[in-house]
Amino acid sequence: MPLEPLAERGFGTRAEEYELARPGWPGEVVDALARELDVGRESTVVDLAAGTGKLTRELVPRAGRVVAVEPSEAMRRQLAALVPGAQALDGTAEAIPLADASADAVFVAEAFHWFATQPAVAEIARVLRPGGGLALLWNVHQWGGDDPGIRPVGELIGSRRAGGATREERYQSGAWREPFDRCGLFEPLREVEVRHEQVTDLDGLLLHISTWSFVAALDEPEREALLADARTILERELPDPGRVVIPYRTDAHWTRRLPQPSTG
Ligand SMILES: C[S@@+](CC[C@H](N)C(=O)[O-])C[C@H]1O[C@@H](n2cnc3c(N)ncnc32)[C@H](O)[C@@H]1O
Repeated sequence: MPLEPLAERGFGTRAEEYELARPGWPGEVVDALARELDVGRESTVVDLAAGTGKLTRELVPRAGRVVAVEPSEAMRRQLAALVPGAQALDGTAEAIPLADASADAVFVAEAFHWFATQPAVAEIARVLRPGGGLALLWNVHQWGGDDPGIRPVGELIGSRRAGGATREERYQSGAWREPFDRCGLFEPLREVEVRHEQVTDLDGLLLHISTWSFVAALDEPEREALLADARTILERELPDPGRVVIPYRTDAHWTRRLPQPSTG
């Protein structure tokens, strides 16, 4: 069935745009993490920084109880409507509204780079039972993939970036690992990667780009110019503007809380 153009599907708030424009998480990677971390129908899992619940909806069918913690009210409202099987709570990584040792696993998708600090890692360890699991996930664009229509967009965005690091740069720098190296609260991180795709259309790809924090932070004229240039490139390069495939690699890292802090 051809996709209805996004502009006609209607979107208003940021949270709605996020929900429409961002990719989900491949079931394959969530299955692998559930297996590694012994998540099952008896487990209580936390989706920390849950956004509109893109990972939450994958956790609900795999766990017993899913608590989604998210500081943005607009995001939580979307999540509650889209994933009624989860409990949505206001909270942050630095102040998780759960009791000590009450969670079997904590998942953080596309967000850990925002709060990769010792206090947040200690707070995650506090809510995990000893031996409980922690999974950190990121979707990494594969602009240089098979689709020649997509590659120039990656180049354009790279050339227009200003200011702070992008989400992918923050992730790929590996700086987010530092609090683990120093805290002695978790086993060494292990990882798995899976390829997947987001199928959208030309408007969907432009909306997707406009939801990135560095694009949203540009001055209005710069933002409009970037999106107009991206549209020009896409209209020229895409064989079918009604069907755009955005390729990703999902990187997932997992670990377990040590029973006792390690001093080594
Ligand atoms: C890119 S979104 C990821 C949403 C969702 N996990 C997903 O996979 O689509 C990042 C989320 O982190 C949340 N966030 C930002 N700072 C946070 C903090 N200190 N503690 C918890 N969540 C935070 C934001 O409100 C936002 O919903």
